[in-house]
Amino acid sequence: MNNALSIRDLETAARKRLPASIFGYVSGGSEDLLTLRANRAAFDAWRFVPRPLVNVAKRSQKVELFGKTYSAPVGIAPMGVATLCHFDGDVALARAAHEAGQPYVLSAASTTPLERVAQVNPDTWYQAYLPADTAVIGPLLERVAAAGIGVLVVTVDVQIASMRENEIRNGFSIPLRPNPTLIMGGLLRPRWLLGNFVRTLLAQGVPHFENFTATRGGPIIRATPGDHRAGRAAMTWEEIRWIRERWNGALLVKGLLRASDAVMAQSIGVDGVVVSNHGGRQLDGTVTSLDALPAMALAAPGLPLILDSGIRRGTDVLKALALGAHATLVGRPAMYGLAAAGQAGAAQALALFKREIDVDLALLGCADIAQLSTDFLCRAGEVLAADNIPLKELP
Ligand code: FNR
Repeated sequence: MNNALSIRDLETAARKRLPASIFGYVSGGSEDLLTLRANRAAFDAWRFVPRPLVNVAKRSQKVELFGKTYSAPVGIAPMGVATLCHFDGDVALARAAHEAGQPYVLSAASTTPLERVAQVNPDTWYQAYLPADTAVIGPLLERVAAAGIGVLVVTVDVQIASMRENEIRNGFSIPLRPNPTLIMGGLLRPRWLLGNFVRTLLAQGVPHFENFTATRGGPIIRATPGDHRAGRAAMTWEEIRWIRERWNGALLVKGLLRASDAVMAQSIGVDGVVVSNHGGRQLDGTVTSLDALPAMALAAPGLPLILDSGIRRGTDVLKALALGAHATLVGRPAMYGLAAAGQAGAAQALALFKREIDVDLALLGCADIAQLSTDFLCRAGEVLAADNIPLKELP
């Protein structure tokens, strides 16, 4: 794993390891991939204005979130069916994050009982996909709390399934329906076939959706009523309010991009917002998280904003923090690491971010992530008149 020098290297390794349909599921986006591509472009559109000759001999990237101190402002975003990428994938991701002291969010669409994941990583956050039905939500909240999980993340940008053409072309769907394209893809990747697919079937049987509701869901190869996406389209702020009144832990809403929604979340007592366009996997053509962030930070001061979608480098993390994020999450980078080398690969992804952030802080002339601000940034291509003030903005 040590020869993976960047997230891009982990992506290449994952592409070689996974059947094309599963690599496509992880790497792909919806419709024309406008948002997926824009997510990268948004980071590239900012440049640093470094400040050397300040003492950066000691640097800190520690961050406090919801009462816990983490070693770096980068956590693992919730991702469904991680088990398709590696044997016992949920546990491997949870362990990698725990050992690194970085946040980990278990997806509702995971296949390991949340109780087992919470044992492996007591700081696990749980991400819920909820129907607009308090009779279903209530018992789930009790189950999550009983497992000792203290952070609940409600994802709100998957009202229904999005259109992902690559998945249809590759024969991929959830629930997974065995078909010739899928089977052929598996046969072409014998290491994955034996090391993951066969091993999983022998050791654990057909994976089930374990964590959508208070009770075990169906197998990932069959649609079970009430399991997947059922009733979610009817969900509104009413359910978030209802949850807030009953959930004693930290409550986050994931998938907001509007300043007015950040204000709304704050006004009903939500503890944090994940500013996200779901990594370009839902509505295509949305604003990028990075472009949405400053207005949200301005509108809801004090509300922890955690940004995801498109982060691939330590410099991306620094840009997000400078523009108002408290921390960040990464999806595909961790999943590529997982696919490439299991827990060690996911750990490598997290370690790459940590090392890059440390180096980049020093080169930027900023000893602590808490001191990052727009003072360190300017727009790409802009000619500066003073420090970070564009020439054209001078009176
Ligand atoms: C996701 N994402 C996601 N989000 C969520 O709230 N619940 C989920 O079950 C999933 N599942 C999922 C699977 C896979 C394979 C990916 C790549 C993503 C979205 C995820 O949490 C996050 O918002 C994005 O992945 C962030 O973008 P990057 O870091 O992948 O560019």
